[in-house]
Amino acid sequence: MIILGIETSCDETGVALAEKTSSDSFHILSNIIASSFLHHAKTGGIIPEIAAREQIKVMLPVLKEALQSGLHYTLGDKAPPPIDAIAVTYGPGLIGSLLVGVETAKTLSLLWNKPLIPINHMHGHIFANFISDDQEEKNISLPAIALVVSGGHTDLLILKEDNTIEVLGGTRDDAAGEAFDKIGRLMGFPYPAGATISRLALNGDPKAFVLPRPMIGSKNYEFSFSGLKTAVYNLVKKNNWDFADESFLKNNEKLQSNLCACVEHTIVDVLVKKTIAAAKEYNVSSILLGGGVAANNKLRSSLQKQTELLPTDCQLFVPSPALCTDNGAMIAAAGFFSKHASWKDIEADPQLYY
Ligand code: KG4
Ligand code: ZN
Repeated sequence: MIILGIETSCDETGVALAEKTSSDSFHILSNIIASSFLHHAKTGGIIPEIAAREQIKVMLPVLKEALQSGLHYTLGDKAPPPIDAIAVTYGPGLIGSLLVGVETAKTLSLLWNKPLIPINHMHGHIFANFISDDQEEKNISLPAIALVVSGGHTDLLILKEDNTIEVLGGTRDDAAGEAFDKIGRLMGFPYPAGATISRLALNGDPKAFVLPRPMIGSKNYEFSFSGLKTAVYNLVKKNNWDFADESFLKNNEKLQSNLCACVEHTIVDVLVKKTIAAAKEYNVSSILLGGGVAANNKLRSSLQKQTELLPTDCQLFVPSPALCTDNGAMIAAAGFFSKHASWKDIEADPQLYY
C-alpha cells in the first residue's frame, strides 16, 4: 500500500510517498521538502502571508519531484499514479499555508479518484517514529509516551494499544522550539535558532549561569518556558551584552557558547524529567520523540540515558533528524493509522487540537 503525504502547515512544503512494509512499519519512496525559511530568517520569524505565497509557488514542483523520484511517474500523465490514498495535514497551523495543501489534496483526489485522509499535524510528528529509514523494521510496543516538541507545541501524550492518543499535558505559554527561537533572536541568531543554539552549546559550559526551570517540580505534565525567555532577556539587558555587535562577539565567544549551553541544558532538563516521570507513571514499553526540537542531540542523548535507567523495559524511538522537522513522509505514515474522509468534509482547521 502506498500513500502520498502532503504537509504545508507552517513554512515547509513537503510531499512524500510512503509504502507499508509490515504491519506497523513503513519506508519512504520519496520525501521532497521546500522551505521558505530564508525569507523568515531575514524578518526574525514567520510572516504567514509570505509562507503561503511561497507554498503556492513551490507546491506543484515539489509534487512533481516526489512522484518522479518515488514512482517514476510524470505529473500530467493521463493515468493516475499507482498510489492508494492521499494524506494531507488539515491543522493545526497557519490558515493560508494549510489551505495550499488541503486544496491541492482535494484536487488530486478528484482528478485521480483516490481516497483522501485528513491528518492532524501533531499526529504526523508521532507517527514519524514508525518510518524505518534503513532496512530494519520498527517494532514499537504500545502503550507509549510521546513527547512532541516543535516551534508551536510542547505536548506529552500517551499513544494507546488501539492507536488512540490522549493528552497528558502541554505548555502553558511558549513551546520549547519557540523558547529556542525567541532566545536565539535575543542573541542575534536568524530564525529558526534551535539548531544554531545547539551547535554553539557544544563549546559552552551548561553550568555557567543558573536559569529558571519553571514547573519542573509540579506534579503534572504541564510546561512553561516564557520565564526562561524573560530570565535570559534580563541577563542580556542587565549586562549590556550585544551579541549582534561583531566586535563584542569577537571578545565574547565563550560567553555566547556558555549562554547557549545553559539555555539548551535548561530546556532539555525539563523535557526529560517530565517525560521520564510520565513513562514511569504509565509503565509504558516505549517513548516516542517527535517535532523539530527532537532533532536536538542533547535531548536525544539525555532521554536515551534516562530511558535506560527506568526500572522496567522501555525503548526510546526517535525519528532521523530530517523526519523530526516538518515533512510529508510523517503525514503519509500517519495516513496508515487514520480513516478516510470525503473531500467535502475536509476543511483546514488552524486551531485543531488532538
Ligand atoms: O516541527 P517543526 O519543524 O515546525 C513546527 O511545527 O513548529 O519545528 C521547528 C522548531 C523550531 O523552533 C526550531 O528552532 C526547532 O524546531 N529546532 C531545534 C533543532 N532543530 C530544529 N531546536 C533545538 N535543537 C535543534 N537541533
Ligand atoms: Zn511540526
